[in-house]
Amino acid sequence: MAGITDGAFCRDISQEGFDMVTLGGYNADDHTIQAGREILARGRPEFVVDEELLLAYLEDQVKLVRERFEGSVSVNLRSITPDPIIEVSKIRGVDVVEVNAHCRQKEITSLGCGQAMLRDVLTLEEYVVEIVEKAKSLVSVKIRANVPGVNEVEVAKAVERSGANFLHVDAMLPGSDSADLNIIRSIKENTSIFLLGNNSIKDVVSARKMLNAGADGISIARAAIGGSLNFDLSRI
Ligand SMILES: Cc1cc2nc3c(=O)[nH]c(=O)nc-3n(C[C@H](O)[C@H](O)[C@H](O)COP(=O)(O)O)c2cc1C
Repeated sequence: MAGITDGAFCRDISQEGFDMVTLGGYNADDHTIQAGREILARGRPEFVVDEELLLAYLEDQVKLVRERFEGSVSVNLRSITPDPIIEVSKIRGVDVVEVNAHCRQKEITSLGCGQAMLRDVLTLEEYVVEIVEKAKSLVSVKIRANVPGVNEVEVAKAVERSGANFLHVDAMLPGSDSADLNIIRSIKENTSIFLLGNNSIKDVVSARKMLNAGADGISIARAAIGGSLNFDLSRI
């Protein structure tokens, strides 16, 4: 999560039994980095690393995770163009680059990045195809559910056509403290891409519900933010 899940955080939380940890999200080009500065200035946590320092910084973060973790390391990235994401995929120890088509901060969406990418499915598909063709790691695309005017199934089909390895869905249901499992079901019924289900997983029951709805894996953010989980992942 922005400004929180750096290498030390991911290294320590990995010991709870995760198969994969995600660094970031990081802004990877000049435009999104400037947007990150503006987000930080209005008081929201954010990683701000200059573009020319980002690769070396991420190399260090990955080394920190690798001190205690042999599972997969993913890096969540925002960028207007695919190139910076492709460069991150070449870092030793990075297993997955994750396209952030999820961020709803206005400074990012006004650039056409983050969840704004969901509004133009064809452009998103071309963007991800280029990353899939040139990346040295696996590729994930993270999307947010229930963005007005966005058809998640069409987005999911485009991500699948692009050849990405994972579709990571924040099944946010506005006004609810539970995930929108109908969207997970619909995506599962219409695609066969590896589906990572996210949102409001805080215990064994909510994790099982996500898997029963069709997710192939789950991800956890807020319930891990304190640096540990209050439930045992091996019981899911
Ligand atoms: C403070 C905060 C910062 C976040 N930053 C990011 C981010 O940088 N990239 C991203 O993909 N998701 C980000 N998220 C979203 C979470 O990764 C996750 O999708 C969302 O919180 C729902 O999952 P949860 O219910 O397990 O927390 C952030 C969430 C919070 C609360």
